[in-house]
Amino acid sequence: MEEKKDVLILAIESSCDETAAAVVRNGREVLSNVISSQIALHALYGGVVPEIASRKHIEKINQVIETALLEAGTALSDISAIGVTYGPGLVGALLVGVAEAKAIAYAAKKPLVGVHHIEGHIAANFIEHPDLEPPFLSLVVSGGHTHLVRVKDYGKFDIIGRTRDDAAGEAFDKVARAIGLGYPGGPKIDKVSKEGNREAVIFPRAHVEDAPYDFSFSGVKSAVLNYINGCKMKGEEYSQADIAASFQKAVTDVLVDNAMHAIEEYKADKFAIAGGVASNSALREAMKNACRERGVKLYYPSLVYCTDNAAMIGAAAYYEYMAGTRCGWDLNAVPNLKLGERYE
Ligand code: KG4
Ligand code: ZN
Repeated sequence: MEEKKDVLILAIESSCDETAAAVVRNGREVLSNVISSQIALHALYGGVVPEIASRKHIEKINQVIETALLEAGTALSDISAIGVTYGPGLVGALLVGVAEAKAIAYAAKKPLVGVHHIEGHIAANFIEHPDLEPPFLSLVVSGGHTHLVRVKDYGKFDIIGRTRDDAAGEAFDKVARAIGLGYPGGPKIDKVSKEGNREAVIFPRAHVEDAPYDFSFSGVKSAVLNYINGCKMKGEEYSQADIAASFQKAVTDVLVDNAMHAIEEYKADKFAIAGGVASNSALREAMKNACRERGVKLYYPSLVYCTDNAAMIGAAAYYEYMAGTRCGWDLNAVPNLKLGERYE
């Protein structure tokens, strides 16, 4: 019998503030995962500065790719295809990865596979969970997105809920800045919340009328700002830890509520969380409890695969590659690419 040939994807991710490359075998086995983070640089400005992000990607991308190939023990000639995030994200940042991927694919005569960043976040769950296969329900919570998604098959999605305003991670970042924690806010709020009382302040839990799976986080963010301003005006002290914990509780309550509602409605028995905010310890705990009560199997990636990385892009690119996705030399960055929208 002929042995099945391994499919090796060299994946590239540069949609925001991490320059990343990875080599992934057969969609699920990570041979290398190299991430050059710009967080420290952007922290000086309190958030991601797009122009600086693009410039840093240009500086780092070649060495990140070289290290990924080296650590995987793979020569470029062994690679089956080049996978790259082409949207959504910051246009200048995406362009660096897309141009690089095209150049490598052209020079090495390899197929080029464009990947949707959110498809990558969801696929991060495939890396450590060999038993996870579609169909399943997924909650993607990152700095730019909050989506409840039905994963019908590999590469086939129905978005059943989304945020109407801020993404969950964006709310974490803005509130962290307001209470003086700095950037990036999510991990800092997660940490100080452990010392706070999550019942100290009851912040609003917004539900969107007639859209049970949609989210809105601008109200809770404003409520935190109003609360702080109120304290300042009255000359009262406020506890950073209590506010962080109470805010985190308000956000996680809504995420869990909507997700569980969708799980019940769609009779899902598998649920996968993904994206930077999926590394939040309170969210993981609350999701674990809620899923256990309903007999639903919960999946979440390790921390390193929650925030932006190229291994998840390699996992998604594998399934796109197997489905026949091949991009031409006209592949461009699409900053507002919709999930499920395909390169034609
Ligand atoms: O997925 P990601 O790396 O980038 C995007 O695609 O947006 O997500 C970054 C976001 C940031 O907003 C960051 O504050 C948030 O994820 N984040 C967290 C935690 N770790 C990262 N939010 C809450 N708790 C965390 N532990
Ligand atoms: Zn991301």
